[in-house]
Amino acid sequence: MKRVLSRMLVASGLMLGASLTVPSFAAQPQGFPSPDAERGGTLYEQGDAARGIISCASCHGEGGNSTLPANPKLAGQHYGYLHAQLIDLRQLPDAEAPARISPIMNPRAQNLTNEDIADISLYLSQQTLTEAATATNPDLVELGQKIWRGGIAEKGVPACAACHGATGSGIPAQYPYLSGQFNSYIAEQLQLFRSGERNNDEAMVDIAARMSDAEIAAVADYAAGLR
Ligand code: HEC
Ligand code: HEC
Repeated sequence: MKRVLSRMLVASGLMLGASLTVPSFAAQPQGFPSPDAERGGTLYEQGDAARGIISCASCHGEGGNSTLPANPKLAGQHYGYLHAQLIDLRQLPDAEAPARISPIMNPRAQNLTNEDIADISLYLSQQTLTEAATATNPDLVELGQKIWRGGIAEKGVPACAACHGATGSGIPAQYPYLSGQFNSYIAEQLQLFRSGERNNDEAMVDIAARMSDAEIAAVADYAAGLR
């Protein structure tokens, strides 16, 4: 486990350099048409009743600015990350289950074509997070900041900042922003990684497995308030 993590950290260091030169469409397989953000926006806001796709905005808010903590904010999230999540949330014909299990999202992603996923991901990545969530508990700042910046050395938990950035803005293409995301959503995802219910990322499963409830609560609140 430890070796996997350190290899991933090295890889992420390489990615950091690579992300400066690789175009943001890196996640788009070759041979696919370039994504169409306008088409993605229409599909996101209105859905497509004929194909059984209901409006994403009804849960994730206009332009991805969700105001309901149950539904994550998506505005301005990195294209590559959104693209990968929608692929993982959809069950492929030859697979036993989707790579990312979510009783709510799996049926929503199922009817999306590759083109829909690329178009919606590009549209959302171009939106601005207008209603960023904030930290809520001053008592958690000290522990949250310690974990964010330095990890938890005695448990082998690396600094979150190494992959999600000093200000929580993430790193394109595959490291999501956490700053301004709902603290409850961040904490819930860490719990899902810890229990293995969300297991579409080996590094995050390994990291969350080493964290206590108190550490998860502290770093989730701190991350939400980062700018
Ligand atoms: C009924 C409400 C609902 C609808 C409609 C909905 N979503 Fe979601 N979505 C959620 C919830 C809740 C989650 C969190 C899932 C989890 O953690 O299991 C989520 C998660 C996601 C994620 C992962 C976000 C992240 O940070 O990892 C993406 C991407 C997403 N939804 C895109 C969409 C798109 C695109 C549509 C429209 C086709 C859509 N959603 C429709 C409720 C909804
Ligand atoms: C080795 C790099 C790395 C480190 C260190 C790291 N993360 Fe992550 N994190 C990722 C990647 C990659 C993803 C996207 C996973 C996926 O594709 O499903 C992610 C996803 C997440 C998500 C899900 C976000 C969403 O929108 O659903 C949360 C929450 C999260 N990380 C929190 C943390 C916290 C808190 C720490 C520090 C304790 C941390 N991460 C440290 C790489 C890392």
